[in-house]
Amino acid sequence: MFRKIKGNVSWVGYIDWELETFHGDDYSIMNGSSQNAYLIEEEKTVLIDTVWTPHRFDFVENLKENIDLNKIDFIVANHGECDHSGALTAIMAEIPDTPIYCSAAAVKSLEGQYGKRGWNFNVVKTGDSVDIGNGKKLVFVDMKMLHWPDSMATYMTGDNILFSNDAFGQHFAVSELYNDMADQCLLYKEAMKYFVNILNPFAAILSKKLEELGGMNLQIDMIAPSHGVIWRDNPVQIVEKYAEWAAAYQEDQVSVVYDTMWEGTAKIAHRIAEEIREQSPDTVVKVFSISKSDKNEVMTEVFKSKAIVVGSPTVSNSILSSVAGWLEFLKQLKFKNKKAAAFGCYGWSGESVKILQEKLKDAGFEVIDDNIKSMWNPEEADYAAVPELVKNLLA
Ligand code: FEO
Repeated sequence: MFRKIKGNVSWVGYIDWELETFHGDDYSIMNGSSQNAYLIEEEKTVLIDTVWTPHRFDFVENLKENIDLNKIDFIVANHGECDHSGALTAIMAEIPDTPIYCSAAAVKSLEGQYGKRGWNFNVVKTGDSVDIGNGKKLVFVDMKMLHWPDSMATYMTGDNILFSNDAFGQHFAVSELYNDMADQCLLYKEAMKYFVNILNPFAAILSKKLEELGGMNLQIDMIAPSHGVIWRDNPVQIVEKYAEWAAAYQEDQVSVVYDTMWEGTAKIAHRIAEEIREQSPDTVVKVFSISKSDKNEVMTEVFKSKAIVVGSPTVSNSILSSVAGWLEFLKQLKFKNKKAAAFGCYGWSGESVKILQEKLKDAGFEVIDDNIKSMWNPEEADYAAVPELVKNLLA
């Protein structure tokens, strides 16, 4: 099925209601997703991106039911990752000489994934354009490291559509396709989760790219990303949100993240949360047991936080593996402008707090010295330091 989105442009992608995880199992999908591909039928017929490999034959069948594949003049591969390039092998088997417009890095990633198949690559860079007839053209914009070296976006003049690929996307299935038709609360929740877990490590690059895009003075009437909704109602709203999120974003929130063996560390977590509420009633306080919570959702809450408090008991001279793995992920996301403190119970050696503090510093947090370290189960005397810790954390 083709779905006209503007002028002679159709959505020809795949809505993936059943998808449960993405990037292997590293990204949780709570509300489905989509792989958006688009077909432009001007004097030239152009396919923009494809879908994930498991859906490649359905994708090609759908195209064949609606057009003669030989009418496709060229394909634009904005990004080599297999959720967008996964149907190229199937479609190129049908129309093997069709030019593929992509970045130089995309040639490497596509050949790296699918082998050297003699595809007819046309390498493009920012500012290059191609005429598609009816007075319209496609202009290519390099989006290097947003989020792969090969990423790019394609702008269509005349209809003023930015095919932004991963940027401005969400893992969010919306059969109505458009941002104004979607549940706004879920849309922004998923857009932020996507930004945090996929794009935040490249926030500095993104800020510069947004400036560069602004400098190109493109009239943007629609942003058509490769996942989730098409932004047709005030599309610039998501660009403005990205600019805000990329600038060391924080809200008046503190998150307490911990794991526990025999509930001692859990008790400290909740005591700290109570104290934050006491000292700063307007601050949003959230508590997460990391082994019981979805790590991508927790990262989104950390992103919103101005400070976090992380706890683990000492186990085998170290910390719980659940917390260690989570801290490794935390470091990857390169959050900025956030404070942190550590806490944990122990029975004898008691290294956990020091290890947590080091790992939090390594992850880019401003770690305060105040900590709560409790031998065996916490007692009132152990909580005596909580008010000062919270005061310094909120300062
Ligand atoms: Fe949606 Fe980077 O692929």
